[in-house]
Amino acid sequence: MSAFPVTRLRRLRRTPSLRSLVRETKLDLGDLVYPLFVCPGEGVEEPLEGLPGIARRSIDLLCDEAEEAARLGVPGVLLFGIPEAKDDVASEAYAADGIVQRALRALGERVPELLLVTDVCLCEYTSHGHCGLVRDGEVLNDVTLELLARTALSHVEAGADAVAPSDMMDGRVGAIRGALDGEGREHVPIVAYSAKFASAFYGPFREVADSAPAFGDRRSYQMDPPNLREALRECELDIAEGADVIMVKPALPYLDVIAAARARFDLPIAAYNVSGEYAMVKAAAARGWLDERQAAIESLIAIKRAGADVIFTYWAKEVAQWL
Ligand code: PBG
Repeated sequence: MSAFPVTRLRRLRRTPSLRSLVRETKLDLGDLVYPLFVCPGEGVEEPLEGLPGIARRSIDLLCDEAEEAARLGVPGVLLFGIPEAKDDVASEAYAADGIVQRALRALGERVPELLLVTDVCLCEYTSHGHCGLVRDGEVLNDVTLELLARTALSHVEAGADAVAPSDMMDGRVGAIRGALDGEGREHVPIVAYSAKFASAFYGPFREVADSAPAFGDRRSYQMDPPNLREALRECELDIAEGADVIMVKPALPYLDVIAAARARFDLPIAAYNVSGEYAMVKAAAARGWLDERQAAIESLIAIKRAGADVIFTYWAKEVAQWL
């Protein structure tokens, strides 16, 4: 390669059309999934202080929001439920008439073209807020698997197109695959939150989902943030158990994990641009410290450049309007 002055990289940066021609990574609305929170009641839309622009909605208003997202071209949503009541065994997580199950039926009727993905976890449904069953202060693994599998199956029976287990119990992808296949649902994909780290960036989400653990924290099951090689082992095991898509979460502080997973695995990779990543930009933008649109697009492009195919983001609807 000849050096300066023959080579001048600024030549291709001079105009917007030149920059567009040589742009290596593009943001595509078709890659985005929009998280939604459904709560009991009717006519409820409860905006959240820590997550500007995002609200908990009762099924009727959830359907309006989902319809608008679909109209704007957002291909899919990720559903989280805030149940009427919580208990020790997360009964509403797998109840046939649970909040997510009812929302799925309503969405299937109102917005049939929209892809419905569900978050499969117990933490929004347990009285203690942990992602699994608890005995003597320990989060139990193997007995939790059966409840996760029941939850996933009940979502699919209510119309979920894909299920996304986010609990980080060992063996849950295999348990869910087995349960789905046992009921003739072998065509339903599993989007596994494979490398999910015990992160401070979930803060605003836990306010929305009312799922902060009542005691302790999630470090005995979610991953230790410094570990990259272990993240790849998590991905490898989920793939072996039948994951169709692997996910890294959060996204921006873990771009190296996304890139390493991209280099090693040929499955589609998803990344979750979580509540704290979104809230930081919103908060700074509200003070006039940065431009939200540019910061959001730059963040999402970075996640794609690292190697993600699918991005779960609270900006999905806004991106649809920006692009
Ligand atoms: C449930 C779950 C969480 C998130 C997605 N699924 C919270 C947690 O693990 O504490 C976080 C999403 C976000 O912060 O946007 N286990």
